[in-house]
Amino acid sequence: MTSPGRPVPFGFVVHPPTLRHVRKAIPAMRFVPDGLVMSLIRHQKPYLISRVRRIGSILGHEVQGFFVVCPLLPKQMLELETESVIERIVGAGKIAERLGAKVLGLGGYTSIVGDKGIKVASRLNIAVTSGSAMTAWSAVEAIRRLAVRRGVDPARSTLAVIGASGSIGSLCTKVLASSVRKVVINARHQDRLERLRVQLAASCPTEVRVEMDAHKAVAESDFIITTTSAPDALFSAEELRPGSIVADVSVPKNISKVEHSRNDVTVVDGGRVKLPGHPEFSVDIGLSRGVVYACMAETMALALEGRLENFSLGDNISPDKVEEIGRIGQKHGFEVWLGDGAGAEVKEEGQ
Ligand SMILES: NC(=O)c1ccc[n+]([C@@H]2O[C@H](COP(=O)([O-])OP(=O)(O)OC[C@H]3O[C@@H](n4cnc5c(N)ncnc54)[C@H](OP(=O)(O)O)[C@@H]3O)[C@@H](O)[C@H]2O)c1
Repeated sequence: MTSPGRPVPFGFVVHPPTLRHVRKAIPAMRFVPDGLVMSLIRHQKPYLISRVRRIGSILGHEVQGFFVVCPLLPKQMLELETESVIERIVGAGKIAERLGAKVLGLGGYTSIVGDKGIKVASRLNIAVTSGSAMTAWSAVEAIRRLAVRRGVDPARSTLAVIGASGSIGSLCTKVLASSVRKVVINARHQDRLERLRVQLAASCPTEVRVEMDAHKAVAESDFIITTTSAPDALFSAEELRPGSIVADVSVPKNISKVEHSRNDVTVVDGGRVKLPGHPEFSVDIGLSRGVVYACMAETMALALEGRLENFSLGDNISPDKVEEIGRIGQKHGFEVWLGDGAGAEVKEEGQ
């Protein structure tokens, strides 16, 4: 393990998740038609949206940070030429670099484009990270804590991971597989799931089954982690097995937010971390006070720790990084956020 250095400033790249967010940030766009807004932001330069003065650690250190906007929508990041999107992300990174950031986190779709941050990192002079390790840690930790709270024994339980072949899903699967009785993995492409199954079989004795029907996978499982890039909800709480525990990491969420009558199931918004103290943000990130997305928390933890390295980039992140970033975060007082009284509630939350 690399030893800690001095705390350093950080940068974090964000982007508008929807057209509604673009119009909120630039009121002049309020009456401009959708198509025109999309083509205007396509040529807009990245810009600094917020300076975060104090992110503190229980060890007494503090760091400041810079949130920089890469002004493209998710759809544009997936559909425009990859190289031009990467250049816009690099442009946002350079702003953070000029302001003094030493480590840069890639938020939302900026961590998914192209080779998942590797090219971006190669074009900047500061460390870059995707946040995938702490996002996986937050989901794994949520399942572990809720299992203890609900008195469910993992060794007798089945875990389903929906989106198991993705960056976060494969990390969650690899970290949790050895502690459960059975693992069911699901995504749309079978070949990638089979590769994961073979990889797991070589390192752990737990039975791992590929299930191409996501509805069947959740119906037979006690623990469920959903971490897909699906643009819409995939399940309703009504489909869940009695007493099941779900960490829904996906943005947008995979468990539908509609009213349901399942008081026996526990569904938490995975991928959230509570920071120590009362950090102030000048922008509304849409979460409860002091709670940030796990990918932001990874960047903040690395900055507090002075870890100037490309911590979690690309598709082959070591599962050891998941426990490591969890330890670093906890050392500075970061905790997984399980919601306000995580019960059966499935509540709407602004992004
Ligand atoms: N809270 C946070 O801080 C945070 C940070 C990063 C990411 N996230 C969220 O976490 C999720 C996963 O991110 P990632 O980086 O792991 O993405 P990724 O590497 O692109 O993986 C996405 C996974 O979803 C699967 N998938 C896509 N559509 C599906 C569907 N309809 N049904 C079942 N599986 C489906 C993909 O496999 P197939 O293509 O084979 O289906 C793949 O396994 C995203 O929603 C992202 O926004 C949250």
